[in-house]
Amino acid sequence: MLQRLNHVALAVPDLEAAASTYRAMLGASVSAPQPLPEHGVTVVFVALENTKIELLEPLGENSPIAAFLAKNPKGGMHHLCYEVVDIVAARDHLVASGARVLGDGEPKIGAHGKPVLFLHPGDVHGTLTELEQV
Ligand code: CO
Repeated sequence: MLQRLNHVALAVPDLEAAASTYRAMLGASVSAPQPLPEHGVTVVFVALENTKIELLEPLGENSPIAAFLAKNPKGGMHHLCYEVVDIVAARDHLVASGARVLGDGEPKIGAHGKPVLFLHPGDVHGTLTELEQV
């Protein structure tokens, strides 16, 4: 069911500082910041040869990463995203296997304009897991 690793998302308290670290210290290619108000984050993409890293900073009230940063004030790994071919088939298999899908259980259009869903970290050994149909 799982295909490629699409991205690793890191929550950071200061996106400008984090982008600068990845660009200047780590020598990576970093995109311009992209505000995504409907997702409650501002994101930059760090392009790697085999995947990408997303740096996420809270945007607005009720950001989905605010609670994570309250617990991890310096930032940290927020979720992994794997590609799947058919997200509804994947969801049905996961639900039948006892996994909880966050929200109403229906795929949503994610930060890349593709359908995504998130699995409860408690059902995946502690890691928030995103699936994206590519
Ligand atoms: Co993601």
